[in-house]
Amino acid sequence: MDIRTVATQPYSDQKPGTSGLRKKVPVFQQPNYLENFIQSIFNSLEGYQGQTLVVGGDGRYYNRQAIQIILKMAAANGFGRTLVGKGGILSTPAASYVIRKNNAFGGIILSASHNPGGPHEDFGVKYNISNGGPAPEKVTDAIFANSKTIAEYHLLDAPDVELDQVGRFKLGEMVVEVFDSVSDYVELMQSLFDFDRIRQLLTGGQFRMCMDSLHAVTGPYAHALFEEVLGAPAGTVLNGVPLEDFGGGHPDPNLVYAHDLVEIMFGADAPDFGAASDGDGDRNMILGRNFFVTPSDSLAVLAANAKLVPGYKDGLAGIARSMPTSQAPDRVAARLGIECYETPTGWKFFGNLLDAGKATLCGEESFGTGSNHIREKDGLWAVVFWLNVLAVRQQSVEQIVKEHWQQFGRNYYSRHDYEAVDAERANKLIEGLRAKLPTLPGQKLGSYEVEYADDFSYTDPIDGSVSQKQGVRIGFTDGSRMVFRLSGTGTQGATLRLYLESYEPNIANHGLDPQVALGEMIQLADELAQIKTLTGMDKPTVIT
Ligand code: G1P
Ligand code: ZN
Repeated sequence: MDIRTVATQPYSDQKPGTSGLRKKVPVFQQPNYLENFIQSIFNSLEGYQGQTLVVGGDGRYYNRQAIQIILKMAAANGFGRTLVGKGGILSTPAASYVIRKNNAFGGIILSASHNPGGPHEDFGVKYNISNGGPAPEKVTDAIFANSKTIAEYHLLDAPDVELDQVGRFKLGEMVVEVFDSVSDYVELMQSLFDFDRIRQLLTGGQFRMCMDSLHAVTGPYAHALFEEVLGAPAGTVLNGVPLEDFGGGHPDPNLVYAHDLVEIMFGADAPDFGAASDGDGDRNMILGRNFFVTPSDSLAVLAANAKLVPGYKDGLAGIARSMPTSQAPDRVAARLGIECYETPTGWKFFGNLLDAGKATLCGEESFGTGSNHIREKDGLWAVVFWLNVLAVRQQSVEQIVKEHWQQFGRNYYSRHDYEAVDAERANKLIEGLRAKLPTLPGQKLGSYEVEYADDFSYTDPIDGSVSQKQGVRIGFTDGSRMVFRLSGTGTQGATLRLYLESYEPNIANHGLDPQVALGEMIQLADELAQIKTLTGMDKPTVIT
């Protein structure tokens, strides 16, 4: 076997963020940059000799080249087997499932999620552990530490592997299996949801749906699931062919970037149900006819209706949501008499709760919902869950959400993003806020009174690990909140995220535009943090 050991120099910027290492493609194309990071992952693991590694990505530019390098490095480092998605394609949820199903040691997922792709756009590498979930901080810290001292990496000299045909062959001593994950994934969905009932809904002639895959990874999964298995007419899936640059779009399922879908769902003769998913298939957006469901509300509604769905009919052990996510799910948990856990941003913090059986459903305000069926959020899973609820309740999306507000009250919610802010200015803003925190409790701000003000710190209830500085939050006596944090997934400057929430129990006031309902809070947030002055922007770049 031709194993080469290559001398290398460390790069100083390989610290994994909220969800793996994300950089522009040209950064990854620097000599040894990808190799260093992959070897740093392997160097921080123990006991993988002879074990299975899952490899695949969202199909974005540089996916194929990176997979060839990773396979040759995995072979040289002693993995026994790699499972690779056909064409190099694996959605993030499918990868999580494949790791679990095959008792793999771990997986490498190539994706920059919802960030644009192309020769000058974003690329990313994420390591997932044997439970199928993102590596916890102690692993990502070890990877970063290794990347700072790395001196060599190992690579098998071999020709490139054929990725486009399902097959099994050897690369040095390592077995490579190229497989198609779509059927596995469809089977998993079938084990959780009432496919007969959903098929009746989709073929009954009354109900129409539209799924926008945004030219990203879910195209093949969505075609198989909705059109082939569940009987929806051809054409139900839009933009269903994955492209290396996502057709030049921004594969982020929100009201701004999923504009084709938004036009259809808010246009004349709109279908009953619309959904979109992101670059790597873990996010989802849910729309009814002329109606947007906020991700936080979506989690709350799914939790409240879980017993209608076969996979969850015995009830939920608990719910978990990230700290900036609205408190709508907390109200459902309280009603159900179960715990609602509040974790830092990022799916990796849900893994322990899911493994310990403490939480069944999880979600984030950033269009992420999922459950204990895997250890990642799962875009299409959320879509099928909604379809199952719609099929049972025979009501519109809007009716279901409005009835939910009637029962639980409405948590008005919005996130304001200020993208590509100068990093120094963004840090100054957060530091300025931190300095003010001790003086805030008890103060009156406009018509609100501050109840608490802190920088969120989380102690994992399972392993006791502590994560600090996870976002500045200011809570008011009436349950309203504002949260400020800097994104950990961006690749350009800093992104400031401002999360705003207020609670309205009175049904007579449920019909407001969230930007209006939150108007005073938005103003107060600016006064407190000097957002306009410090970012130099007079409005957010994206509002969700
Ligand atoms: C963002 C979202 C976060 C999500 C992550 C990965 O991270 O806010 O909820 O888990 O993308 O999809 P951020 O950029 O805020 O660090
Ligand atoms: Zn994603």
